[in-house]
Formats: sequence, structure tokens, C-alpha cells
Amino acid sequence: MGLKNINEVTKEKWLAATFPEWGTWLNEEIAAKEVDEGSFAMWWLGCTGIWLKTHEGTNIVMDMWNGTGKQTHGNGKMKKGHQMQRIGGVSNMQPNLRNVPFVVDPFELKDVDALVVSHIHSDHLDIVTASSVAKNCPQAKFIGPKEVVNTWIKWGVPEERTIVVRPNDRVTVGSVEVVALESFDRTALVTINDPEEKLAGKMPIDMDDIAVNILFETSGGNIYHGADSHYAVMFAKHGKEHDIDVALINYGENPPGIQDKMTSVDVLRMAEALQAKVVIPVHHDIWTNFMADPEEIVTLWNFKKDRLQYAFTPFIWQVGGQYNYPQDKNKIRFMFDRGFHDVFEGENDLPFPSFL
Ligand SMILES: [Fe+2]
Ligand SMILES: [Fe+2]
Repeated sequence: MGLKNINEVTKEKWLAATFPEWGTWLNEEIAAKEVDEGSFAMWWLGCTGIWLKTHEGTNIVMDMWNGTGKQTHGNGKMKKGHQMQRIGGVSNMQPNLRNVPFVVDPFELKDVDALVVSHIHSDHLDIVTASSVAKNCPQAKFIGPKEVVNTWIKWGVPEERTIVVRPNDRVTVGSVEVVALESFDRTALVTINDPEEKLAGKMPIDMDDIAVNILFETSGGNIYHGADSHYAVMFAKHGKEHDIDVALINYGENPPGIQDKMTSVDVLRMAEALQAKVVIPVHHDIWTNFMADPEEIVTLWNFKKDRLQYAFTPFIWQVGGQYNYPQDKNKIRFMFDRGFHDVFEGENDLPFPSFL
């Protein structure tokens, strides 16, 4: 911050100097990355957000979110008609606080070829990301289901830059085929903005208008992004019809009475059904009240893999981390760069060599 006197310190200066916590570190890392032939690279941006970069230099950002959860206790009550109220009949405020840092500076996005958003929820569909991609990346397309696109247009994204996708639609973005597939996000189905609207006794809205799963086909392998889908037997159909190398899926610890995130058992069943080679849980990082330990997935995978002949590996990632496929195919856990690679390449300076 460079402040030298306590009287210079203000909240605004602290906010400006501190956020995003990682500054442009990750933006720079992504821009500098040269992806090997026959592979792809991706970074976890938090929640289900990823940045995908191909060998050919195509950059796709999906579900990047720059918001927070609760920041005050307020009146202690939930917004009327909230999806969790519809599911669980609750009225007390959900204590969902954001639990991870901001690892990308959203105002410094560049070279993005497409923004893909899976569904209408605000921790996936984000106005800051939309603004930055629209302004900084004139070539970028905006790809999502109908209601996501409607929201972008309402926010000022030019309609001609948007592409509505429904299951089995394909869009070519640079070197990547973006394939929309069915979503199984039953929480999204009861997310209705009008608090007075009653859902009891009515047919639900069309899932395909509000949510899709996405398959990215690249020259280095295919990524299946399940976003906020609940477990569904249809994963096996997607696995039969598509070659899936790496599957990403939401995971979290559901409070009793709430069915929203995939459990460890669901994650393993999904990876098996998709015939994926790697499964990566996401979303468990973001909400304090759905926090879950992904080591549970590894423990259960070890328990079941020999009997069920699992042909996939779980990978436990960290927000801000880079993943390369197939180079990291057999890794179980992510670790950040530990640095100090140049140790003893220069003269050290100690009282005597045997000091250490
Ligand atoms: Fe969602
Ligand atoms: Fe979500």
C-alpha cells in the first residue's frame, strides 16, 4: 500500500490495494502459458469457474464469478421465494459466506475467445465477467442457455455476440468444439425470481432454457463440465455418446433437508458413468455452509476402485491452480509451485557454511 502514516489509511485505499488478492498474477501466468501439442491447460477460478487454454491458443472462460455471499446478518431472514426456501421451507438466512480469494483480476481479462455460462445462478452468471469480456475481448462470443443469454442482453451485451445453446448444439470457438448437453440441476428448476409465484401443482420450467452441461472438445482431450447438475442416470448416456477425458462436477456437504450439491458417492458414480479418466470436484471451495473435504472422495475411491475396476482417478485441486492434461492424469492432489528452484545457484551469505 505504501502508506507511511496511520492518518493516510482509509478503507478505500485498503480495498484498492488488497483486491483482488492475487492481483494480475494468474492473468499473467495464463497469458504466458504455452500449451504443449496434444494437451490442454486449465485453471480453477473458484466455484465452478475455469479458464481453458488450448495448444492452438484458444481461450475459453466458463462460469467465472466475482461476487461474494453474505457480508452482514441483516434481518436474519432469507429473500422470500429463494430456491432454498422453496426446497426446504426455511425462512432464516442461509449463512453462505465466500470462502476463497479472488485469484484473477476480472478487469484485466484479455484474449478471451468465448465466455460460456452453464446456468442462471448468480455464482455462475456474473455481470463483472460479462462487462470485462465484452469490453476487453471484442472477438469473444457469449454462449449459454436462453435465460443466461437474455440476462446478458439485459445487461447490455450486444445480442449479435450471444449464442443460445440447447442440448446437442455445437459451437466452434477457435480450436474448440463447445457442445451443450443436458443439465440435471434441479435447484435451478425452482429458482423463480417472483416471490409471489407459487410452484406447487405446476409443471416445472424447461431445464434446457436455463441450464446446460458443457463438453469442450480440444486437440488435447475433452472436458465435461457438469456445473451444478445433481446426480442423474443420464450421465451414463453422456458417457456412451461422448469421449470424456476430464470431468468437472460440483461437490459439497448438503445441510440436512437440503439436496443441492453432489456427494462423494455421487462424484464417483458420475465419473464411472461418464467413463471419464479423471474427475475433479469443484464448488466445495466457495460456500462456508456447504464446505466439504474432497479427501473423502479419494478415501472412497481407494475403498472401491479395485472391486469396481475404476478406470478413472480423482484429482483434488486448489483455487488458482493450473491443471494440464494428460501430463497430470495420474496425479491425485494439486500442489502450488513451491518456488526456490534456483537454490544454491548463487552464493549464499552466512556466517559459516555449516551454519544451516
Ligand atoms: Fe447453481
Ligand atoms: Fe453454484
